[in-house]
Amino acid sequence: MRAKFDIIVATDLNRGIGKNNQLPWRISTDLKYFRDLTSATPVPDVTNAVIMGRKTWESIPAGYRPLKNRVNVVLTRNADYSLPQGVFKADSLDAALTILSRGPVDRVFVIGGGQVYAEAMQHEKCGLLYLTLVRHQFDCDAFLPDYRGFFQLASCSEVMMENNLEFCFKVYQFNFPEYLAALE
Ligand SMILES: NC(=O)c1ccc[n+]([C@@H]2O[C@H](COP(=O)([O-])OP(=O)(O)OC[C@H]3O[C@@H](n4cnc5c(N)ncnc54)[C@H](OP(=O)(O)O)[C@@H]3O)[C@@H](O)[C@H]2O)c1
Repeated sequence: MRAKFDIIVATDLNRGIGKNNQLPWRISTDLKYFRDLTSATPVPDVTNAVIMGRKTWESIPAGYRPLKNRVNVVLTRNADYSLPQGVFKADSLDAALTILSRGPVDRVFVIGGGQVYAEAMQHEKCGLLYLTLVRHQFDCDAFLPDYRGFFQLASCSEVMMENNLEFCFKVYQFNFPEYLAALE
């Protein structure tokens, strides 16, 4: 299995991430941040990978999926679920990481949604949490679990503004030993 993966997410002040299988906001600066961060590699002959839940896959407009220049892995327990050629299907997060360990993949990002984040945020291979904080409250039906106990703030950008929305980019580091200790 792979060494590590990171998580990338945008939340509102209540950790809301989605409503009716869509993002509740549109912040193009954040979409660009997501694209650049998940695509960038140190050398041209490797690519990064993104792992997402089946509902998040379906939330991406048809013309934009698979996410280009990245290996796409979709988690589903439905063995009959059909995906375009070149998109991997996995029936667990560990199975997805195993698939990705076989190829020339550099970084792996878990990109949502709520169900997949919940599992990834307790996983021993979880490294960084890239969190865009949208400093407003939205009506949401999908949420990120509470991260404050076991994720330590590593960096925080200045506050930016787009479409009258304030947001900032934060990076947290998962503290797996502390998480394990709390379970005992
Ligand atoms: N704000 C953000 O950064 C962000 C990012 C991504 C998504 N979102 C939002 O999040 C919402 C979707 O989240 P969600 O929690 O409803 O759905 P989701 O996590 O995207 O997908 C859930 C589905 O993924 C599959 N799945 C989940 N865990 C699995 C596992 N361990 N093994 C195998 N399959 C697994 C199952 O598919 P089957 O039912 O097919 O078995 C499950 O029904 C949308 O509103 C979307 O817009 C927000």
